[in-house]
Amino acid sequence: MAILNILNYPDDRLRIQAKPVEEIDAGIVQLVDDMFETMYKAPGVGLAATQVNVHKRVIVIDISEDKSRPLTLINPEILEKEGIQSIDEGCLSVPGIYEPVERAQRIRVKALNKQGETFEMEAEELLAVCIQHEMDHLQGKLFVDYLSQLKRHRIRKKMQKQQKMAM
Ligand code: NI
Repeated sequence: MAILNILNYPDDRLRIQAKPVEEIDAGIVQLVDDMFETMYKAPGVGLAATQVNVHKRVIVIDISEDKSRPLTLINPEILEKEGIQSIDEGCLSVPGIYEPVERAQRIRVKALNKQGETFEMEAEELLAVCIQHEMDHLQGKLFVDYLSQLKRHRIRKKMQKQQKMAM
């Protein structure tokens, strides 16, 4: 397994639309394993392939505190949405920023797992937020896109300053 490099906002590659996975081969299994390792190390509760510069519809999530609930969603689709909630979100591509975003409260999702089997699941609260946030990444969308232009501008400046300092 390997730790992958996570792209940071405002990197343009975070705007690329991911393509559906056509076949779950050894490369995809490896990608999923590496994404889990990268997410756990960060640490974070979700990671989309887009964030590691792989433009395929793959996301990994684990909202447990002890790495006990790994969830892989390949080619995810939202079948149903219900309700509205707004909780503070963060993102491994926008480190140190936490802002509330309005999302559906409950969702029903269909996806493939790492074995290539189709499954459906329901999610609510934090897990529902996490799935919606990661699915946005696959469309080239970031949680900061939901914020006011002023806030987004301030975040962009802060990120650019941090990246300069890190170089
Ligand atoms: Ni994110």
